[in-house]
Amino acid sequence: MNSPIPNAALTDHASSRAQIVLDSLLSRESHWPLAEPGPNDAELAQIFDAALRAPDHARLRPWRFVLVRGDARGALGDVLVDLACARAPGEPRSAHAHRRQKAFATPVVIALGAAVDSTSHVPEIEQLMSMGAATMNLLNAIHALGYGGFWATGDDTYEPAMHAALGFGPSERLLGFLFVGTPQRAQRPASRPEREAFVREWKAPTRGQ
Ligand SMILES: Cc1cc2nc3c(=O)[nH]c(=O)nc-3n(C[C@H](O)[C@H](O)[C@H](O)COP(=O)(O)O)c2cc1C
Repeated sequence: MNSPIPNAALTDHASSRAQIVLDSLLSRESHWPLAEPGPNDAELAQIFDAALRAPDHARLRPWRFVLVRGDARGALGDVLVDLACARAPGEPRSAHAHRRQKAFATPVVIALGAAVDSTSHVPEIEQLMSMGAATMNLLNAIHALGYGGFWATGDDTYEPAMHAALGFGPSERLLGFLFVGTPQRAQRPASRPEREAFVREWKAPTRGQ
């Protein structure tokens, strides 16, 4: 049973655990390229469970993830070539064959969707933000397990044909893709913005008499 009054040892333990979590959050960055191996089934289960801890107004659970890996990436690559051909009618299919490689760029691709409940009092923006929060949890879990992720949209995300190919329904939105694998080289840490430029404390204004 948990003691209601933490002793010194527990406090030390909690504080070193907090530091590990914070170090992980503060060191996450996007990676490219990403190669084999990708997370295995047990790791993917943890990654998706982390996503399902996202905040979610009215418990609508708008999160939808479509896992694409292995040979299925070939079919995704075919869709990417189809879309490129449709955008440039008249050009030979061979001109767009290279688009297929995008599906094979990483061992795991996760299509990110949101099921929007338009009958809910919760505005659509909140439902989409919940999916954004879930995706951030995916990225953090991927990083914590020693893998790398890259969140991308690009023109393909907004194509109805891609939406249909991935099996999303009329009330669902495709919001992008997460590419997942093993980082290939130690990359120079990205320069990060200064906190002061983004955070300000609001002070209560002095009210006139
Ligand atoms: C919704 C969303 C869509 C994105 N789409 C793309 C994209 O299509 N192409 C791209 O190069 N970066 C895209 N990015 C940015 C990268 O995922 C990444 O955040 C950026 O390269 C900065 O790297 P960092 O995460 O290490 O700060 C997108 C980010 C978000 C949040």
